[in-house]
Amino acid sequence: MSLVVWSGLRYSDPRVIQEIITTGKLSKLEHFEIDEKVQTISLFGEVWGVGPATALKLYDKGHRTLDDLRNDDSLTNAQKLGLKYFDDIRQRVPRHEVQEMEQILQKVGEDVLPGVIIICGGSYRRGKATCGDIDIIITHPDGTSHKGFLPKFVKCLKDMNFLREDLIFSTHSEEVYPRDIYTFGLVAWTGNDVLNRRLRLQAESRGFRLDDTGFFPAIQGSGGKRGTKGTANMKLYTEREVFDFLGFPWLEPHERNL
Ligand code: CTP
Ligand code: MN
Repeated sequence: MSLVVWSGLRYSDPRVIQEIITTGKLSKLEHFEIDEKVQTISLFGEVWGVGPATALKLYDKGHRTLDDLRNDDSLTNAQKLGLKYFDDIRQRVPRHEVQEMEQILQKVGEDVLPGVIIICGGSYRRGKATCGDIDIIITHPDGTSHKGFLPKFVKCLKDMNFLREDLIFSTHSEEVYPRDIYTFGLVAWTGNDVLNRRLRLQAESRGFRLDDTGFFPAIQGSGGKRGTKGTANMKLYTEREVFDFLGFPWLEPHERNL
């Protein structure tokens, strides 16, 4: 007789046989079914634009594979693109490719708006060998001509087929940093996330709120946790000034992989 050993229980174990005889099922196997559900839902959740609630809804509709999802008309455009490029999006980009893309972006940016500053942040700026995506931080040194840059830049990149699809494109917000808050954008989009959290906690302990747009004095009486946008922002122009202001030891970008 062959023995099946699974999760430490032998199916020849008298307790297992007793359970099957008396209840007609095996509780361990129900766990297996739950595992299958959890696995399917987390797979669906890896599709761009599918969150946990949608993933569960798709499972409850009877979908079990990504091919099942491809035949579902209820998906949004972003979700359809998420499926179309499922493997592409999951694949990490080698560093040298990001470097090439940064150079193209800088060249096209310069053609659209002379003097524009375009930096790849995130894991690339922290020196990682591969990157999950490309995070771009943009500003212009004159403090004003960044306005309206992004739509023109995106159009150029689409015309040359560098950009092929929009997963999200928000037209109502100006997603280029004005020069006076750019440093905060650079720090926040370089990360990593652990460093961001530490910097924010340090700011809070000093009575400020820190985000990607600046330091804001915390409002009295709210436990020092919140500041409001629009209140006097600290004018800091370099990353070093931000670290110094917080009394946080300086870290080069490649030292920020905490
Ligand atoms: N970040 C942030 N605020 C956001 C989104 C991202 O502060 N709304 C930060 C993240 O904490 C991270 C950096 O911006 O430090 C880039 O985010 P992300 O691309 O998710 O992470 P990477 O570190 O670049 O890693 P990956 O290679 O996976 O892209
Ligand atoms: Mn990234």
